[in-house]
Formats: sequence, structure tokens, C-alpha cells
Amino acid sequence: MTETPERRDRRRAVLLLLAVAVVAAGAWWWTRRGGDAPLVEVRLPRQLSPQALRGQAVFEAECASCHGATAGGSDRGPPLVHPIYRPAHHADLAFASAIRFGVRQHHWYFGDMPPRPGVADEDIPAVIAYVRELQRANGIR
Ligand code: HEC
Repeated sequence: MTETPERRDRRRAVLLLLAVAVVAAGAWWWTRRGGDAPLVEVRLPRQLSPQALRGQAVFEAECASCHGATAGGSDRGPPLVHPIYRPAHHADLAFASAIRFGVRQHHWYFGDMPPRPGVADEDIPAVIAYVRELQRANGIR
């Protein structure tokens, strides 16, 4: 059984349309992934330790513009209250290093994190304590 030329042309047009749709969907997904870091609705602990309270003030001044006021993420940076930033995967040293030296884009597509020279050395443990207490209050340990 032979196909008529018209039928063949229609079949090709449909296949071409499908291919274009698949490529367009792929491109959309590829460019959107960065912003697709989940925005986390962060549960606040009933009480923060005195150290974490100090860290909270520093976090709000130095980190919140990208990581969100309570580390739930924003359109400029990922949530730190997220399982990939749990202590076993991003130890305290990774936090200290991020603050001092910045971070090259690798997990998401927001771009690099610049160093935060405005955070004093002695405030680094307080910032980490704040994020860890938020993580624990949200079941991340
Ligand atoms: C200008 C935006 C911006 C600011 C301000 C910012 N960050 Fe980041 N941060 C990012 C981005 C973007 C990433 C994700 C990089 C990636 O993995 O693609 C990141 C990643 C991190 C990581 C993960 C490091 C790793 O090893 O993967 C930590 C920890 C972190 N930030 C902590 C902080 C802390 C603490 C502050 C405040 C002192 C802060 N950030 C301020 C944008 C920012």
C-alpha cells in the first residue's frame, strides 16, 4: 500500500511540529531550572538560642537578599533550609567558606555567590547556628 504525497506531507508536518514542541519544552526547562529552586515555607523554631538570635540579625543584613529572610530562598538564591544543605552534606566549614570566599554556581542556576566581607569572623558561627536551628525546626538534620 503506497502513501499519497498529500498524506506523506501531512505526516511530516505533524512530526516536525512535534519535534519543535519537544525542543521548545526542553529549552524552557533548561533556562527555567535556576529559578526552579524550591521556595521553602520555613517554620520558625519556637525559640532561637542567644547565638542564633545574633546570627539572625547578621543573616538578615548579609544573606536575606538572596537566600530569603528566613533562608527559604528567593529569585536570587536557593533556600538554605533544604536537605542538600544539611550538616552531613554542607558542613559548617562549607558555610564559613561560602561567606569568606563566595561560591561558584554549581547546584543551581542563580550565578555565583559573592563573598560577604561584611560578616565579621566572630559572627560566622552565629550565622551558621541560626541556619542550623532553622534547618532543625524544619526536620533537616
Ligand atoms: C548575592 C546573592 C547571595 C548572597 C547575598 C548570599 N548568597 Fe549564599 N549563595 C548564593 C547562591 C546563588 C548560591 C548557590 C550557588 C550554587 O550552588 O549554584 C549560594 C550558596 C550558598 C551556600 C552553599 C555553599 C556550597 O558549598 O554549595 C551557603 C552555605 C550560603 N550560600 C550561605 C550564605 C550566607 C551565610 C550568606 C550571608 C552571609 C549568603 N550565602 C549570602 C547567593 C547569595
